Amino acid sequence: MNINKEGQTFQSAQAEILIVGVSKNQEQLEGWLDFVEIFGNPITEWIKEGDIATGLKKLTKIPSFIPSTQVKRILFVGLGDRKTLSTDELRESFGLVGKELHKLNAKTVTLWVDSFVTADIDSTEVSIIAAEGAGLGYYNVQNYKTSSNAIDVKIEEVSFITTADMQEIVAGFEVGQVYAEAVNEARSLVNLPGNILTSVKLADYAEELAKQYDFEIEILNKAQLEELGMGAILAVNKGSVEEPRVITIKYQATDKWEDVIGLVGKGVTFDTGGYSIKTKTGLVGMKGDMGGAAAVLGAMRIIGELRPNKNVIAVIGSTDNMISGEAFKPDDVITTYSGKTVEILNTDAEGRLVLADAVTYAKQQGANYIIDVATLTGGVITALGYDKTGVLTNDETLFEKFVEASVEAGEFVWQLPLTENDKKRIRKSDVADLNNSPGSDGHMIFGGGFVGEFVGDTPWIHLDIAGTSDTRSAHDLGPKGGTGVMVRTIATFVERLAEEDK
Ligand code: BES
Ligand code: ZN
Ligand code: ZN
Repeated sequence: MNINKEGQTFQSAQAEILIVGVSKNQEQLEGWLDFVEIFGNPITEWIKEGDIATGLKKLTKIPSFIPSTQVKRILFVGLGDRKTLSTDELRESFGLVGKELHKLNAKTVTLWVDSFVTADIDSTEVSIIAAEGAGLGYYNVQNYKTSSNAIDVKIEEVSFITTADMQEIVAGFEVGQVYAEAVNEARSLVNLPGNILTSVKLADYAEELAKQYDFEIEILNKAQLEELGMGAILAVNKGSVEEPRVITIKYQATDKWEDVIGLVGKGVTFDTGGYSIKTKTGLVGMKGDMGGAAAVLGAMRIIGELRPNKNVIAVIGSTDNMISGEAFKPDDVITTYSGKTVEILNTDAEGRLVLADAVTYAKQQGANYIIDVATLTGGVITALGYDKTGVLTNDETLFEKFVEASVEAGEFVWQLPLTENDKKRIRKSDVADLNNSPGSDGHMIFGGGFVGEFVGDTPWIHLDIAGTSDTRSAHDLGPKGGTGVMVRTIATFVERLAEEDK
């Protein structure tokens, strides 16, 4: 998609669609008189009479009825009350715009930036949010239908009408685009079926990404994991015919490899539960058990594009969790990469095992902070539902900063406690240092707490996205399926930390 860097006017704009924000008291908008002078006085009347809706997230499309203009249609976006409009609402509104543009197969679009500005949201923010929201809303899930009549028209050109500095508007729009594209990539990974996205394929994808952004990458295969003694991920992989992979990507921003943020992702490409097998209905959707890995890769894409001044290491443990004569089973005792032993009580609690080795490896490779992200437990859904990511942390100050990033990104996170009593239960075993399933009470806490045993004193944030990584229904910012949750929050967090260092 081309961004037209020449600012447009109402007269010069040639777009198929001109996007305009409308609210009550529209007459007070700067430039409104110029707008109606070109596009016709009745528009103000139509707004008053409700033919053009000003209600929040209401879209009205009209043909541009003045033949002298080169705009074909105007899409009015209801903003409700500009005084109370939040950035989340504006992003969601643009999500709906993105859906509409897709439906219309629009090729050329002009955005009247100033028509979306409020006292709290300036024009640069509008351009970021517009690109991000519309880019997310535009996304469609790929399918494998042999007879599809969908024509895939892409937007070819976007241009802007604004009184603000064009360079800033363009730069903002480009940042928003980067964010949306990275999230959409993560969504596509989550949506890929387990027979297509195996751990080997996930590693291939990571390799491509590394090549594109000049990251250092290492991919450990099964023999190398055996050599290193990564007994936890290997135990999960035992029942599989597919090889496991541990993927490590390094982004070095400063001369010295210090002050490194470690991003650790669960990349279980399909989770049957193993011998502690899931139910028929519980199995469906388990292709998405690599949502944590997708979030990490999505965040790395943004980091690769925007190149913040912060060292980052990403470690992804990837395998599927299958059944065979060789699969691991309850009562097994395994030795993790850290040396700690684990009594297996439930083979469906496999994510924490994969993360245990990945976290240990990340620390060994120099991570000074750990953020792990995983579709770890059904328990987080019981506790928080499908719209909140569950958090555990051992560093409240770090988490406060993370919350700020999540608010900026509009992705809700909520912390649960991890007490000494919880830790005791994770450490309770007659035969090993830890057990992988202390009980059916507090699943989310036991899952994350288990990972914490391998993090130690390193500042750590654990993100359980089992509820938020996939949606069962379409929403303003996208279709049902993979959401790409936490891509934007993690990238924003890294960006803000980098700015702090300046
Ligand atoms: N992959 C699942 C968690 C999950 C559940 C993700 C629903 C997405 C939707 C995880 O490996 C798992 O099975 N967790 C178990 C742990 C339990 C057996 C200790 C759970 O939470 O039920
Ligand atoms: Zn499981
Ligand atoms: Zn799982």
